Amino acid sequence: MRKVLSFIFTSFILCFFLFSSCAGYKEQTIERAVPPPDAPYRNPGNPVSERIEDLLSRMTLEEKIGQMTQIDKDYLVSEKDIAGYCLGSLLSGGGSQPKTTDPEAWADMYDRYQQMALESRLNIPIIYGIDAIHGNAKVWGAVVFPHNIGMGCMRNPGLVEEAARITAEEVAATGIDWTFSPCIAVPRDERWGRTYEGFGETSELAEIMGAAAVAGYQGDSLLRHETILACAKHYCGDGGTENGKDQGDTVCDEAALRKIHLPGYIKAVEGGVGSIMVSFSSWNGEKLHGHTYLLTDVLKEEIGFSGILVSDWKAIEQLPGSYYDNVTTAVNAGLDMIMVPDDYRRFISTLKNSVEKGAVELSRIDDAVERILRVKFELGLFEHPLTKRELLESVGSASHREIARECVRQSLVLLKNSSEVLPLKKNLRHIHVAGRNADDLGAQCGGWTMGWQGRGGNITKGTTILQAVRDTVSSGTKVTYSKNGNGAEGADVGIIVIGEEPYAEFKGDRSDLGIADADIKAIRATKGAGIPVVVVLISGRPMIITPSLESWDAFIAAWLPGTEGQGVADVIFGDYNPTGKLSHTWPRSMDQIPINEGDTGTDPLFPYGFGLSYR
Ligand code: BGC
Ligand code: BGC
Repeated sequence: MRKVLSFIFTSFILCFFLFSSCAGYKEQTIERAVPPPDAPYRNPGNPVSERIEDLLSRMTLEEKIGQMTQIDKDYLVSEKDIAGYCLGSLLSGGGSQPKTTDPEAWADMYDRYQQMALESRLNIPIIYGIDAIHGNAKVWGAVVFPHNIGMGCMRNPGLVEEAARITAEEVAATGIDWTFSPCIAVPRDERWGRTYEGFGETSELAEIMGAAAVAGYQGDSLLRHETILACAKHYCGDGGTENGKDQGDTVCDEAALRKIHLPGYIKAVEGGVGSIMVSFSSWNGEKLHGHTYLLTDVLKEEIGFSGILVSDWKAIEQLPGSYYDNVTTAVNAGLDMIMVPDDYRRFISTLKNSVEKGAVELSRIDDAVERILRVKFELGLFEHPLTKRELLESVGSASHREIARECVRQSLVLLKNSSEVLPLKKNLRHIHVAGRNADDLGAQCGGWTMGWQGRGGNITKGTTILQAVRDTVSSGTKVTYSKNGNGAEGADVGIIVIGEEPYAEFKGDRSDLGIADADIKAIRATKGAGIPVVVVLISGRPMIITPSLESWDAFIAAWLPGTEGQGVADVIFGDYNPTGKLSHTWPRSMDQIPINEGDTGTDPLFPYGFGLSYR
């Protein structure tokens, strides 16, 4: 009897151990002391793999999960939490910034958070991210480049790379290490509010320009002070959603997904992109954030992406089930860092719970943390965690603005030029400028500029198109301006700058891309003076202009050119002979949308690749 009892007892104990070790994570005894100054991970002379291995072996589960956590700095409950939770990353989302937005204030903010992070037990630096998607455009006085839709029209990867290099320098000047750019979406439907964030409607543009941007941001080594980590986004198919709905569903078979939306990622990975952001959208009804096949099997295993796979803003919460399910699914699907971005305490305790229950394996956590630490070592963050202030003087410098102006000239697409009204002579007697967007720097810059949605007005330093016209003409030329087109009488020519107001993401989704009434009226009023009119469109996408195009003598698509309005005047007055080619097929009417290069039996207003020059 005793034997039987002891047998049952021993089996029970055995089963218990067996079960508990299979069922979940058991905290090993980790030396919680501060590692010595000569710990291998602290020595930059050691190979990165050795440093990672050493550091990882010293980390508790909580510290590992902390590294996988990214929060917007505005959601810090207590600044002590940066070190306390060993947080891996902070970001400034669209609306998050220091009290003042001059470059020094950004650098001060960065250094303060970084110093706090360095006080954690293991002294692991944070990596700080920002949406510098067309220049470091939330910093006052930084140069703002054209949005990608215009950069795609340049067909000039060398200049895309140069613009990214300059952006990297202006980001690094504020201490920040990581830009959530390039967006290599292939926007297939102009109703989508993010159309302007992609380089154009073909996978070819995403491949060529995306790789160029990655090369510009990351340079030949992330260790350099003036290079930053790039992030290709949004993986995968964000530009293919039905009806152009932001965060919607991309319905297509795998062959189409691979043909249109995947090639840009293959090129970005070949070019060494250090991070990739997952898309809010779904593929055939399944959210990308939980898509093990696309995230792990295709991206990490097949394509060989070894960097950080980061989630989008609060996006895991759109997965089905409870928050526990969301976290478990996303991490198991292959996400390495979670842009929480708010309640990090909840995220951390939930993921810990998941690991302890065995729902997420420790090996998955270790893989994620290894990827994050590798990037941090490669960036040299352990050795040089603080801002290189000597870069500050480059922010918005004249030489940077010169390059942005060159981008503007090359991105403009001349679509109509009847009886060669363009280029204008600089010594005309009188030019009348009209339209809501002629003297509006904010409208020229569009979304993701000095804030999430962008906004109209004098939001930063730069040159409006009106100012540029004034600066270009001869001293004897009279330049008048009215928003509504009144007062054009007696002028030799009218320049009317029309188009969209700033927007970003889903707030820019539109079912009607017609021209605003105010714009039509301004054109009519100017034209009513009996003078030729040059229409300049500021917009994040092609718009429906068919009904009025006939009355325009010349037409230029200027996209969202950014701060250097001089580039627009350069084209208007012939200091630059236009070379820009459409990065999108231009639809004749709303019911032609979606319309894309390669579609058969369509009759667009202007085909993909179209663009005129002066003689
Ligand atoms: C956008 C991303 C962006 C992130 C951080 C998200 O809403 O989809 O493109 O990088 O916010 O601002
Ligand atoms: C943030 C953006 C983010 C957006 C998503 C905003 O509050 O500032 O960064 O992309 O929310 O909805």
